[in-house]
Amino acid sequence: MAASGTGQSSARYSAVAILLHWLIGAGIAALIVIGLMMTHLTRQLSQMDVFRLYQLHKSIGITVLLLVAVRVLWRLTHRPPPLPTHMPAAEKQAAHGLHGLLYALMIGMPLVGWAVVSSSPFNLPTVLYGLIPWPDLPVLPHLAGKAAVSGVLARVHAYGGWIMTALILVHIGAALRHHLIKRDPVMGRMIPGLDNR
Ligand code: HEM
Repeated sequence: MAASGTGQSSARYSAVAILLHWLIGAGIAALIVIGLMMTHLTRQLSQMDVFRLYQLHKSIGITVLLLVAVRVLWRLTHRPPPLPTHMPAAEKQAAHGLHGLLYALMIGMPLVGWAVVSSSPFNLPTVLYGLIPWPDLPVLPHLAGKAAVSGVLARVHAYGGWIMTALILVHIGAALRHHLIKRDPVMGRMIPGLDNR
């Protein structure tokens, strides 16, 4: 797409990158809400509802893992549009650093969640959306002290969820700052139809 002529690139991300960004974002938002409900509302919800939420959480979580794998492959083979030339170098570095941390969590969180389930002493099978049987990770199901391992991993997963929530809020805040305060084209690069000044 053409540059605006004011020294600011108005190029958007490709349609595939935009679609993956919003699918993954919606998936992660759902995972955080469902994850908190199934672990913290166990008194208010029936056992059956908690069980169903766990199955849905695992299904969406593995879907997000697969979408992130596609996103990473796409990112490695397609250059993202450049950031505006007027953006200070420190801000560009901060943006890249935050994106790097988000990628690490987008890969790490589902893998740790999968490891929690694989080492669980309950040995419940994972069947994505009630249709597709999904294997456990190797080794973990056969560990002697797997209950303790699963407990530690569940803690790591829970802390990771809070860190991810905080970083996503910073990410959203930074995008809004670009759009509402700096009034540059950064947010419009990821939102089809948004005024891409
Ligand atoms: C980006 C991906 C994911 C995010 C953001 C996420 C987020 C969360 C959150 C916020 C919780 C509640 C933690 C708490 O406060 O105790 C949770 C719990 C849990 N998640 Fe995930 N999750 C993800 C992927 C997965 C995947 C792929 C699986 C399994 C296949 C999974 C399995 C679990 C399990 C078993 C728990 C309950 C752990 C416990 O017993 O305390 N998660 N998740």
